Amino acid sequence: MLEVRPDNMVRITTPELADAYIEERIKMLKDQVGDKKVLLALSGGVDSSVVAAMLIKAIGQQLVCVHVNHGLLRKGEPEQVIKVFGEELGANLIYVDATDRFLDKLAGVTDPEQKRKIIGGEFIEVFAEEARKLDGIEFLAQGTIWPDILESDAGIKAHHNAGGLPDDMNFELVEPVRILFKDEVRVVGKQLGLPDNMVYRQPFPGPGLGVRCPGAITRDRLEAVRESDAILREEFAKNGLEGKVWQYFTVVPDFKSTGVKDGKRTFDWPCIIRAINTTDVMEVTVEHLSDELIDHLVQRIITEVPGINRVLFDYTPKPPATVEYE
Ligand code: XMP
Repeated sequence: MLEVRPDNMVRITTPELADAYIEERIKMLKDQVGDKKVLLALSGGVDSSVVAAMLIKAIGQQLVCVHVNHGLLRKGEPEQVIKVFGEELGANLIYVDATDRFLDKLAGVTDPEQKRKIIGGEFIEVFAEEARKLDGIEFLAQGTIWPDILESDAGIKAHHNAGGLPDDMNFELVEPVRILFKDEVRVVGKQLGLPDNMVYRQPFPGPGLGVRCPGAITRDRLEAVRESDAILREEFAKNGLEGKVWQYFTVVPDFKSTGVKDGKRTFDWPCIIRAINTTDVMEVTVEHLSDELIDHLVQRIITEVPGINRVLFDYTPKPPATVEYE
């Protein structure tokens, strides 16, 4: 029987309520899993991180986390997963650097849906390969949350968190945050001791920086996206905008324009900055930055990021423009 959120469930908004939830779930997880092993794809996003932290508390080394680096993660993300889960929480963590596999498969692919399919398909393949190397796994843990269930019931999103794994791998599901809303997952994560920049992080799409490097992904342009994104995040954090602005990122489109640097002509990419606010992502408005911050961001990006000679700001709401470029 799949678990359903009780109608009368109190919204988890305080540390006390989160502690009670954690305690209850740990007991349930121990009962469900016994002395068996559980596998988890740990992306480093809020939901899978909270599931990992809870399972580490409940069953320790019986949990095997697999972190697949598809090469499209933000700067510092794989390192943080290794530090927090591998070193600090002592998790049984398998780190797979599959960057070359993904980028080789994506080379020359321009169609956005095709790019998404390749990234999703390759992810399942890498994860299944790792799972096959392990003995005695009986459970698969997932960071499914209540809005995922509501959206798939309403037909809004084809939700296939569980989907895609080859048929011979039929694990029993473990979903300890299934009945929680996102804000509740964050309160629980905070109580589990996860760092704030993991618990309160902005949404990040599954295909990662791949959709912010429009058209065919090349390693140099992808690096320009990653470096400019890191600068933007650093400056937003320094200026008190982290956790306040809903989502912000950079895009480096596949066209070049002329410029001049050190008296010489350049022919480089522009970097587009997008910062938006929303409640439901159906409609979004643009965050207006101060002139000082804009000037500072432009200066840093054009001097620190190789291949960029212009910085542009996207001031378009949704609709008509979607949040992401692909
Ligand atoms: P759009 O571009 O549709 O984005 O206005 C709305 C929100 O969804 C995120 N997004 C994705 N998330 N896989 C994801 O997991 C995807 O393929 C994907 N595409 C967009 C986007 O970042 C924004 O928060």
